[in-house]
Amino acid sequence: MPENSVTNKMFECIVDTSDEWISSRTGIKARCISDGETDLFMARTAAESAIKCAKVKKSEIGVIICATITNEYITPSLSCLLQRDLALKEEALVFDINAACSGFVYALNLAYSLLRSSSGKYALIVGSEVLSKIVDFSDRDTCVLFGDGAGAVVVKLCRNAPFLFNAGAKGDDNLLYCPGIIRKKSPFSKTDHEQAPPFLHMDGSEVFRFAVDSIKKSVTAVLDKARLKPEDIDHFVLHQANARIINMAAKRLGAPPDKFFMNIYKRGNTSAASIPIALDELNKSGKLKKGEKIILAGFGAGLTYGAVYFSW
Ligand code: ACO
Repeated sequence: MPENSVTNKMFECIVDTSDEWISSRTGIKARCISDGETDLFMARTAAESAIKCAKVKKSEIGVIICATITNEYITPSLSCLLQRDLALKEEALVFDINAACSGFVYALNLAYSLLRSSSGKYALIVGSEVLSKIVDFSDRDTCVLFGDGAGAVVVKLCRNAPFLFNAGAKGDDNLLYCPGIIRKKSPFSKTDHEQAPPFLHMDGSEVFRFAVDSIKKSVTAVLDKARLKPEDIDHFVLHQANARIINMAAKRLGAPPDKFFMNIYKRGNTSAASIPIALDELNKSGKLKKGEKIILAGFGAGLTYGAVYFSW
């Protein structure tokens, strides 16, 4: 995480908002905002720590996937820079994916497929975002919601361990979007094209509805595939976008709310990084036990969504 923690009170100085509004609507009290920490710096720190925890040899990592929408470069990918900085092996599949807040669950599923054919034993998956680069700090509808950070995992394909996945997308560029590269006028252009600045825009209440519906749909689908009921799951780790979304999803699934990990109060919404950060904090709290059943679920811009069931 970046060092700089920004409280709701601090937002009261820059937009017309209040700690009471933000915490009652979202559950957020603070979030970390980069003061120069880059996607690469955070991704590298998280990945180094994950490789150390997993006690694997770098030469055994055959897949490197970063889920991000805020890489410094259009090309090279964040994954390639990570490979260089961590001196990971050359014979590997190394690429980024853009599935916004569902990026981590999409990447896990990709890793599952790729490890079957790759020369490596392990995949390194990183979610890293500096969302503060694309947040308009004069827009109170969005600026209070997002934070920066990175999380990483090392995964191995275990043929006898459960791994089930469900995902989808409802292509849309109205409810949640961020315009891309500013197009330069080419020497052949006859007209000037207006282009919006690269800031995040969101229709909050529609995205809220989509989030709750898609969590219910994707989690139910993996539970059905696994022939399990919500009460059989030990931990649900959902994308941390809003505490009310998580509570409502728990209610719609008929699952006990205390099985839903939450760190949104101190992290805000860190998009693709939110699930690995939450998983790491849950692990470090000592509450994850070997063999426990876990469901991860993400949803976000795209509009994308997905859930994964596996055992720890
Ligand atoms: N402070 C004070 N007032 C605010 C603020 C603020 N920071 N932001 C908005 N408001 C006002 C609006 O202007 C509006 O005022 P109006 O009614 O006078 O027009 C009012 O509050 C809106 O209130 P509600 O509609 O009751 O807000 P709601 O309960 O829907 O909460 C929120 C808004 C928090 C954005 C919620 O809709 C939400 O969390 N949506 C989902 C966001 C999400 O999940 N994003 C995930 C994907 S992110 C990604 O993929 C990168």
